[in-house]
Amino acid sequence: MRLIQLSDYDEQLMQLAKPVYDAQGRILLAANNKIHSKFLERLMQVGVSYVVIEDAESKGITLDEMLDMPAWLDVILIVREGYLSVAGKKPLPLRNILKGVDKLIADVKYRPVVMSVPISTIPVELQLYAHVVNVTLLSLQIAKQFGYNDLQLRDLAVGCLLHDIGKTIIDDQNKHPEAGFNILRNIKEISLLSAHVAFQHHETYDGKGYPRGISGKEMLEYAQICGIANMYENLLSKKNMPPHEAIEVIMALNGTSFKETVVHAFAKGIAPYPPGTKIILNNGERAIVTKIKSHIQRPFVRYLSSGHEVSLADYPNIMIMNSTS
Ligand SMILES: [Fe+2]
Ligand SMILES: [Fe+2]
Repeated sequence: MRLIQLSDYDEQLMQLAKPVYDAQGRILLAANNKIHSKFLERLMQVGVSYVVIEDAESKGITLDEMLDMPAWLDVILIVREGYLSVAGKKPLPLRNILKGVDKLIADVKYRPVVMSVPISTIPVELQLYAHVVNVTLLSLQIAKQFGYNDLQLRDLAVGCLLHDIGKTIIDDQNKHPEAGFNILRNIKEISLLSAHVAFQHHETYDGKGYPRGISGKEMLEYAQICGIANMYENLLSKKNMPPHEAIEVIMALNGTSFKETVVHAFAKGIAPYPPGTKIILNNGERAIVTKIKSHIQRPFVRYLSSGHEVSLADYPNIMIMNSTS
């Protein structure tokens, strides 16, 4: 199976490999079906622009690197409940949020590679919550490189999951970090460090961020991690950038927007060519990434011409030139 943009869907060659969900998290279209052209339009209307499909080229690819969609959706619905409670001036259902956090931590711990599910695989009403869940997963993956303990991972994850909660009460993009901070710092079960993740997630290492323009040591490492994960997630989902390009954008901000150690941890933890990506190699072959084992930059690939599979870790002179659709 592989992820594709809905606009690349071909009814003759592909069928759905994972279900499509509606805004309530119910199955709208079950797996193992073809998507009829009438339904394609409906999916686009609700904001779904990515689907997971099975075709001959992606046969045998399991996408184990990606969080299971029902588990992902569970946490998204918990987060939605939390954000909507705050929007309705009701208390945050903290116990559920912490359950969600623990699930994400357990998942990232056991998974060597984290591949994010694009937020536009689900309807637009759920995409903000999917965004914060993805930011949390990516942040935990970065944090793994720092060897954080469970308490640190928890504070980071709570902050990441709630980093955009200010958006529920304020429309002004410049003011949502502080609004979020003010919500979170008044909840006594939430660490002040987590509240500061919300406050600082749009600050940059060189002091050119917002709302306060703080810099360097004034910034929490947690907030730097969340800031990188947030930018990466937005490049993928709002700018529709492929992972390797989004990674390039972040690398170019090394030492300016983001601290070097955090950029390095990010680059070590996030795969530029996730499984299911079609690529062109420097030997002229077209191939598809099948899995990632130990080397995040050197995945297993299968030649589309012959079906022959190789681990790029064993062939240091073969390079990935670009991705294709
Ligand atoms: Fe934000
Ligand atoms: Fe965000």
